[in-house]
Amino acid sequence: MSQSLLENLTARRDKMAVIGLGYVGLPVALAFARHFSVIGFDIKTERVNRLRRHCDPNGEIAASDFEGRDIVFTDKPEDMAAARFYVVCVPTPVDEHSVPDLGPLLRATETIAHQLKKGDYVVYESTTYPGCTEEDCIPVLERISGLKSGADFKVGYSPERINPGDQEHSLDKIIKVVAGCDSEALEVISSVYSLICPAGIHRASSIKVAEAAKIIENTQRDVNIALMNELSRIFQRLGINTYEVLEAARTKWNFLNFTPGLVGGHCISVDPYYLTYKAREVGYEPEVITSGRRINDDMGPYVAQRTVQLLTQMGKDPGRSRVLVMGTTFKENVSDLRNSKVIDLIRELHQFSVHVDVVDPLAQPEEMMQEYRIPLLHQPAGRYDAIVVAVAHRQYRSLTESYFYELANVPALLVDLKGLYRGKIQRLSYWSL
Ligand SMILES: NC(=O)c1ccc[n+]([C@@H]2O[C@H](COP(=O)([O-])OP(=O)(O)OC[C@H]3O[C@@H](n4cnc5c(N)ncnc54)[C@H](O)[C@@H]3O)[C@@H](O)[C@H]2O)c1
Repeated sequence: MSQSLLENLTARRDKMAVIGLGYVGLPVALAFARHFSVIGFDIKTERVNRLRRHCDPNGEIAASDFEGRDIVFTDKPEDMAAARFYVVCVPTPVDEHSVPDLGPLLRATETIAHQLKKGDYVVYESTTYPGCTEEDCIPVLERISGLKSGADFKVGYSPERINPGDQEHSLDKIIKVVAGCDSEALEVISSVYSLICPAGIHRASSIKVAEAAKIIENTQRDVNIALMNELSRIFQRLGINTYEVLEAARTKWNFLNFTPGLVGGHCISVDPYYLTYKAREVGYEPEVITSGRRINDDMGPYVAQRTVQLLTQMGKDPGRSRVLVMGTTFKENVSDLRNSKVIDLIRELHQFSVHVDVVDPLAQPEEMMQEYRIPLLHQPAGRYDAIVVAVAHRQYRSLTESYFYELANVPALLVDLKGLYRGKIQRLSYWSL
């Protein structure tokens, strides 16, 4: 059954469907569309319409990358009827209590289950906790389709590692972890993925191992950044600059290269909650991971409070102060505003009645207004008592002190979260994490 599936996909007698066409799904679908006939399915009609016009709403993929690909975009589940190999790339967020919200994953699974036929393959790429595919998704596939996993259809898991805004570590340059429900599935899924992953395939021993591998990649980053953030708060009280300390410590061969900062977005700040949820379910109360999360989640308010403290020390009344926040996206060089911790910083400044103006060269003003009810200016307006460079966008890296000085209501403060201007600021007060 299985070898013929690969042959049929390659000969385009069978089709592949990619479900969820966002940051992860779109590049995966386009990569497979070089080799197979692909159906790209998303529930968002507007997104599908734009993709049909070769426009990536996330601004990550150029129109030229759609050329010559065998792909159709649709928002109609019935258009996936001809698919034999499904790849699931839908979101796995947390709810307002930081509990995993499997809604999109289970709804996508239901959609597939209604179409599932004997011999089909379903591979999940969405990040989730170890056990989710087997305990939460497969039962839905079996219940709705009436088929049996392993015997009638095969399931696999292949976590995604792409990093938005990062042109260096693209899908074709990174090793892909792949797992299958049995050895036959592992073989077929590996052969399918090896077509789009020339850098190599790592065959994990089980679906759970592959799920766990993905979740710890981001948990490790989160905990390490939390340590840097904690160190930064200690060093601030000790009157030493964290970046100077790190520069010195990094001369040791095995010192890890992490820096303090805001941890937002939908991966590093979300995935650890999937692991802590599962840990608690099996009777273990995680401590390191949860305290890391707490520290990182508190960084926005902390930076705002420190800014207000410094303004006060400079003799400025926070209620009469104007602050410019530069950069609002969840990280540098992306336009994505979702779960940006810069918003926490802005809201905390508002708590002190500070007037805040916000600019960002990449974020969309309409989205900022819709998501957070915060206006995004096209450019700074007037002079500011403090300027907070919150995101290390490419456009900000080359700015000089003169740029900030021109915008400053001196004496004024430059808050440089990522330490971009360290050692270069003489005429303004300066603070970095
Ligand atoms: N963005 C990243 O950097 C990244 C990296 C690695 C892994 N991941 C993981 O990959 C998964 C997808 O993330 P993303 O960033 O691509 O999300 P995204 O929000 O950019 O895209 C998800 C897409 O799925 C669609 N969708 C939602 N429910 C659907 C359904 N039931 N059927 C069909 N389409 C549906 C949405 O409309 C959206 O277009 C998540 O589990 C995420 O944790 C993301």
